[in-house]
Amino acid sequence: MSLLRTGSESRRSENKIVCHFNDIILKKVSWKPGTMIYPLPAALISCGSSEADYNLITLSWMGTICSNPPMCYISVRPERHSYHIIKESGEFVINLTNEEMAYATDWCGVKSGRDFNKFKEMKLTAVPGEKVKAPVIAESPLAIECKVKEIIPLGSHDMFIADVVNVQADSRFIDPLTDKFDLEKARLIAYSHGHYYKLGEEIGKFGWTVEKKKK
Ligand SMILES: Cc1cc2nc3c(=O)[nH]c(=O)nc-3n(C[C@H](O)[C@H](O)[C@H](O)COP(=O)(O)O)c2cc1C
Repeated sequence: MSLLRTGSESRRSENKIVCHFNDIILKKVSWKPGTMIYPLPAALISCGSSEADYNLITLSWMGTICSNPPMCYISVRPERHSYHIIKESGEFVINLTNEEMAYATDWCGVKSGRDFNKFKEMKLTAVPGEKVKAPVIAESPLAIECKVKEIIPLGSHDMFIADVVNVQADSRFIDPLTDKFDLEKARLIAYSHGHYYKLGEEIGKFGWTVEKKKK
């Protein structure tokens, strides 16, 4: 792809860049800074150290930040009911969500644990974490147990940096012959710019661009 800056710096300040890619002219329009990294997960985070405290919050601002040791982050607004539960217990579980859990994922993201027992309302099953007191959602294909290491106030959200201390995988997605966990079969959902999506067709695997072709 060749990138041609059309015109002068003043033209660029009009927020337009014209590119040529396969003979198509692409135009970019600059927007004010915003949160536009998509797609993201829409995960159900479970928290609470005793049954009376158990809560669920839907989060998308999250990610992996280190492979070894395995670490991740979630960003939570201090006004969320879950915020203090996570802060005080120092633990949470990231439950990945699939198509069957899509309704609960949205609902838990618009209702507060101040007003509802979300596990009960969504008929989700709380099972004990292995390494944390926070519950795991039995129905989730993959539950990532986390212990908070550091909390960084950033502005609207505080970032909880955490160690991954255990992962619970749903055995329905583990091939009994190969012991391989098949995340594709879990039919995970993604969140992009206000909408939820099913994941589409696989278009390649890690490193396929440099893989040697079998003769
Ligand atoms: C798809 C989706 C993603 C969300 N992501 C976040 C997030 O990253 N951080 C956050 O603080 N709130 C996020 N929310 C909002 C909370 O889930 C919502 O305010 C929820 O009702 C809080 O529940 P609680 O009061 O029981 O803690 C999200 C909501 C939805 C639907």
